[in-house]
Amino acid sequence: MQGQPLAVVILAAGKGTRMKSPLPKVLHPLAHRPMIGHVLEAVAALGPEREVVVLSPGQEAVAAHVAPRPVAIQDPPLGTAHAVLAARAGLKGFAGDVLVLYADTPLIEAGTLRRLRAALHDPAEAGVAVLTFRPADPAEYGRVILDPEGGIAGIVEHRDADRKTRGIGLCNAGMMAVAGARIWPLLEQVGNANAKGEYYLTDIVALARKAGLKVAAVEAAPEEVMGVNSQAELAGAEAVLQARLRRRWLEAGVTMTAPETVWLSADTRLAPGVTIEPNVIFGPGVTVDEGAVIHAFSHIVGATIGARASVGPFARLRPGAALGEGARIGNFVEAKNARLGKGAKANHLTYLGDAEIGAEANIGAGTITCNYDGFEKAETEIGAGAFIGSNTALVAPVKVGAGAIVAAGSVITRAVSPDALAVARGRQEERPGWAKAFRERKRGTKSQRRTGNKD
Ligand code: UD1
Ligand code: CA
Repeated sequence: MQGQPLAVVILAAGKGTRMKSPLPKVLHPLAHRPMIGHVLEAVAALGPEREVVVLSPGQEAVAAHVAPRPVAIQDPPLGTAHAVLAARAGLKGFAGDVLVLYADTPLIEAGTLRRLRAALHDPAEAGVAVLTFRPADPAEYGRVILDPEGGIAGIVEHRDADRKTRGIGLCNAGMMAVAGARIWPLLEQVGNANAKGEYYLTDIVALARKAGLKVAAVEAAPEEVMGVNSQAELAGAEAVLQARLRRRWLEAGVTMTAPETVWLSADTRLAPGVTIEPNVIFGPGVTVDEGAVIHAFSHIVGATIGARASVGPFARLRPGAALGEGARIGNFVEAKNARLGKGAKANHLTYLGDAEIGAEANIGAGTITCNYDGFEKAETEIGAGAFIGSNTALVAPVKVGAGAIVAAGSVITRAVSPDALAVARGRQEERPGWAKAFRERKRGTKSQRRTGNKD
């Protein structure tokens, strides 16, 4: 097997009508990565010599996602066998193993694909190997009919199956390995005399048997091969994938007290010794270094969190937020395109947008970087060790020098020099006894009204 080159054909030309969504089915995300991206990732681990993605006309968005892989257009989509035939020109001259995968079966793992491929060569030369599984509910999956030797005699689609066949629990996962020398002659013989009037890839099993070839069955875990055809199945696949990601990070040394409440992205990167409290959501593009703590109810997207930094509870980190070692972002703080140096802190109720904040700077509660004038974004720069008093508005573009102090309640519109104090607010004035006199005056008018004295 090792000597054989590998080609992979990924089918994604189906209309996906059961999703009832304007987005192409295979671009629906799981853990913030399009379904087809998960399949491509599993395939990449096998290092195939050739790849062809089969699409229908008008799926430019899918073609862009899979680029630079070559795409074959199936026009119109007439079934899964017809789809594989569309890849024929793209595989001209190829004589190794061909793996056919469905882009709507996104949870497949590389190890299972390797087992499937190995079944083509071991023990004896088989023409076809089919991935099977036993779902709790066989629903609309194709049913796999075994022969007495444990090979596969045929696959019957749910719609074409009689009651007895529908009673079979073993189903077709949709993935197949086919010997390159056999695939095209087999596909050419497939007809469309079935309930859907389509050319079914599954028919090559019976055709291979007729040609005297062996068809091997390789069983996979149901969670790994569930097909996604509807929004409900997409949500089901998300649950399986989240459980898988959580398990992976727990095994890698991440502490999660309630992992079932933590939502991860396929590309989330967590170092060993990171702690994640309950109800944290990771969008795409997040990296967390060792010893950092993400407190409860934080929402993090496109952010880099340094070692031993602390985030939340109730923090929002948006793309471009970068926390240096030991930096702190506290409750109800939002940061976007804002870099905090080592040990810098913004502990309460703050918006930091388009800002560069030096090491050990302290940002008081209620500080707002006013970064947008309705047309353009502008930068705020805060030097190392600066202290920004509570409820300060920093009207960008603006710079606060290193070690400077900004008095609470200031509206800063001009640069503050290093180590200076800036006060930018109305001066406080005091009128002794004014409040008491005011109250007496008011009470006096009231009692006059009560006694009927209208004068
Ligand atoms: C298919 C299998 C079924 C199996 C199930 C597993 C066939 C005939 N049936 O059924 O036995 O249990 O998957 O999930 O293969 N596609 C094309 N061109 C087409 C039609 C489909 O590229 O003309 C692609 C789709 O985009 C999809 C994949 O092939 O990625 C499977 O098609 P789908 O219509 O979802 O097949 P199922 O009914 O799920
Ligand atoms: Ca399907």
